[in-house]
Amino acid sequence: MLEMYPPTPLQQIRSRAADGANVTLYLKRDDLIHPQISGNKWRKLKYNLIAAHRQRQSTLLTFGGAYSSHLYAVAAAGREFGFRTVGVVRGEETLPLNPTLQFATECGMSLHYLSREAYRQKTDALLIGTLKEKYGDFHLLPEGGSNGLAVKGVAEGVDEINIPWHYLCCAAGTGGTLAGLVAGAAGKGQVIGFPALKGGGFLNNEARRLLGEFSSVTGSAYAEPRNLQLQTSYHFGGYARTTPLLLQYIRQFESENGLQIEQVYTGKMLYGVDDLLGKGYFPAGSTVVAVHTGGLQGRLPGI
Ligand SMILES: Cc1ncc(COP(=O)(O)O)c(C=O)c1O
Repeated sequence: MLEMYPPTPLQQIRSRAADGANVTLYLKRDDLIHPQISGNKWRKLKYNLIAAHRQRQSTLLTFGGAYSSHLYAVAAAGREFGFRTVGVVRGEETLPLNPTLQFATECGMSLHYLSREAYRQKTDALLIGTLKEKYGDFHLLPEGGSNGLAVKGVAEGVDEINIPWHYLCCAAGTGGTLAGLVAGAAGKGQVIGFPALKGGGFLNNEARRLLGEFSSVTGSAYAEPRNLQLQTSYHFGGYARTTPLLLQYIRQFESENGLQIEQVYTGKMLYGVDDLLGKGYFPAGSTVVAVHTGGLQGRLPGI
């Protein structure tokens, strides 16, 4: 039922910091998976879509902010794979719709707005029950799409890396991508998560919770992760905040490497990797694979 996408390539990155540290740096180009369901979005959705199909659910319902790249990807996946989609949006309706929500409605997604206060109940059975009364039964994808099935999809991407490596690096928001890489890299290497938001220390527990969900859905025993690291100081002031320094870094990275990154997630993570390289964090001779988690629809046009 689902079209599967080929393994994504590794691109060696030009970096003075990596050369100086005698470290080899690659970017895993998950942004190339699909133009709209890119990067971690596809990996997190894959087994959820398979489960919804097997359970004969024809509707996907999920939660997100008005600029959520997750809502955007779910809307695109619904259109591509034949699911009705409902997006529960945080906050009041603002017209005209922004490009993310405009795209979502063009894909056929129904938008359901909740006040910021009501939205906080997004995991509450009462709210889910009310939504079922209105939209019928659905496969529920949590905010950001992070659940045990999402972890499974991200984990299998690690097997695509066909060179010896020591560290994987990724941007982190809700923690599903980080948990997936940690699961896929168990016994193979370290994973460093770079929270895109302030106060990202909660991801230590959240990644463990998601790894617990992953063990339940796969029937595997939960093992305390030994390869999970967080670098919490590369948020540049908070979620979706930028600084001239970050934007300058992104411009230079893009022109040296001939590809695009965005400023909310991958740009901050790569800045962090570069900074750590300069500080001698990675041992000489090691290989670091950073994951490009896509989301280019959210890239500032004028970077
Ligand atoms: C482009 C991109 N990279 C990384 C992330 C972080 O993923 P996660 O929420 O699984 O931590 C997101 C979150 O939605 C994202 O859109």
